Amino acid sequence: MAGLIPQNFVDSLLDRIDIVEVVDRRVTLKKTGKNYSALCPFHEEKTPSFSVNPEKQFYYCFGCGAGGNALGFIMDYENLGFPQAVESLAQMAGMEVPREQRSGPQLRDQRKLYELMERAARFYQQQLRDHPRRAEAVNYLKGRGLTGQIAARFGLGYAPPGWDHLRKALGADEATRKLLQRAGLLVESESRGSYDRFRQRLIFPIHDLRGRVIAFGGRVLGDELPKYLNSPETEIFHKNRELYGLHRAQQDNRQLQRVIVVEGYMDVIALAQFGITNATATLGTATNTEHLKKIFRLCAQAVFCFDGDDAGRKAAGRALEAALPVMEDGRQIRFLLLPEGEDPDTLVRKQGAEQFQSLVENSTPLEQYLFDHLARELDLESMADRARLSKLALPLLSRIPEGVYRRLLMDELAKRTGLSVAELPDLKDLAPALGAPDGRAPAVAKPGPRQYKPLRRTGATLPTPPESALTLLLHQPRLALKVDGLAALQAIEDEHVQLLVQLLQVVRANPESSTSMLLGRWYGTREGELLNQLAGREPLISAEEMENQFSATLRLLLQQDRRQKASARVAGIRDKNFADISAEEKLEIERELRESRSLDEARGK
Ligand code: UTP
Ligand code: MN
Repeated sequence: MAGLIPQNFVDSLLDRIDIVEVVDRRVTLKKTGKNYSALCPFHEEKTPSFSVNPEKQFYYCFGCGAGGNALGFIMDYENLGFPQAVESLAQMAGMEVPREQRSGPQLRDQRKLYELMERAARFYQQQLRDHPRRAEAVNYLKGRGLTGQIAARFGLGYAPPGWDHLRKALGADEATRKLLQRAGLLVESESRGSYDRFRQRLIFPIHDLRGRVIAFGGRVLGDELPKYLNSPETEIFHKNRELYGLHRAQQDNRQLQRVIVVEGYMDVIALAQFGITNATATLGTATNTEHLKKIFRLCAQAVFCFDGDDAGRKAAGRALEAALPVMEDGRQIRFLLLPEGEDPDTLVRKQGAEQFQSLVENSTPLEQYLFDHLARELDLESMADRARLSKLALPLLSRIPEGVYRRLLMDELAKRTGLSVAELPDLKDLAPALGAPDGRAPAVAKPGPRQYKPLRRTGATLPTPPESALTLLLHQPRLALKVDGLAALQAIEDEHVQLLVQLLQVVRANPESSTSMLLGRWYGTREGELLNQLAGREPLISAEEMENQFSATLRLLLQQDRRQKASARVAGIRDKNFADISAEEKLEIERELRESRSLDEARGK
């Protein structure tokens, strides 16, 4: 397998070749003023809307929105992958493509890490069978009603008391010791050197969906604290993304119909012992959208099963928020809040599998849970509270992807508020402009033939401030060199601004960046689509005016952000889990909304 193509080679290749020549060999170009034009090769058309800009070395079609640099053109036109397109252009330019030898060894290295985790898992399992003090662990398991069979099925193990059992068993040489550290199995300390992380604990190996051991959880055998100790974040373990037992669930069910999401390791295992083999648990973190995406790749229904106390309700509220953006038609989320003081482990032991299954079957669907949850402190007999319900619900509903499910929820809201759907505001106007629903920047989609959902312009006729800034920066990358206060920009939670920051960083690292290099870096991503679109709108102003406009736009962005954050502190609705919002806060939110509406009206908006 060939290594990566170094970015600086790609940059200098783009520098060397001429896009006009590249395109002209495939599509006949006509000079039209400064630019060249042609009938677009990417869509059917009768009058040319495809143009090539020789100065900035990019192409753009006003008809279909295709656009990019010479590399992108080759990839789309000849249907080539990135490395092949680079090869093709390099050949044309008479250059040889160098390869970085990075990916090979690194991958091999990671394989070692997985192997080591596997060996560690086997070591702990063996201790549970052979260690002289194994009785304390075995008795603990028995005391919790677990059979040897189920312990074996989940690969449970035992880390004996002592500081260096694992280190001695696996880390004979310096290289393996380093690897043990990278795996999070050894802890480094000044006074003690390196020592075993897991000591005198019951060990739960954590697997990824491919069945590889990527981490461990360790439970104390008594009442000491912390009750559970988990592996730290490593190259192969990101605790926020993993789900305990999901691989097991997939293995044990030929066709998974639903997944039950519980809170603890012990819950997953106890349920499995009772034949309920489709449970999974987050690793002590709140459920997030990433978790749900993982589950929905395997089946269409998730049932959240939380304790019936305050903490459980909060967890359910969080799970609900995380679920909204992935509630596409056909998917289902349900909630099962258990009686206070019970968890799935205790409940299934008391009531049996059948009873537990029937609780799961009769759990509350999201559409009902959401309204009940919001209305908890409201009195729906009162008109004011019905209005409040719609104000609280609408921002949440707007995060659900458009579709039948969302319309059903709108109907339900109408029913509960006594308003008609026509009287409720249009969700499109409420959609959180482009912010990622869970407040994190969205992962960049894999490059590929336009399957990704492009990052679109917001659709307004006038560009928004981040769009203007991006356009100006694309056309005059050197503007980046004069920006200070990157950190303040970085703190703005907006997809477009985050993209702007990335562009600024790229140009700062490579002051010679050109428009086409920038387009090339984002080629094939959803951000790339947007950049192409923006590059197509050339600002018709002088360099000096561009500079003034750019710094004015950045100032405006920062100012808007300050204002927004100030009001968000009051409204709190996007930064906080709505489960945590008190009745008082709800009233404040309402007042805030009313004030901003009358402000807008005064401005004649
Ligand atoms: P629980 O305390 O509900 O765990 O924490 P549990 O599984 O019911 O534990 P038992 O029944 O007392 O053995 C739920 C989950 O939160 C994480 C673990 O993933 C645990 O399974 N947790 C809990 C920690 O990471 N650290 C802790 O100290 C406690
Ligand atoms: Mn428990």
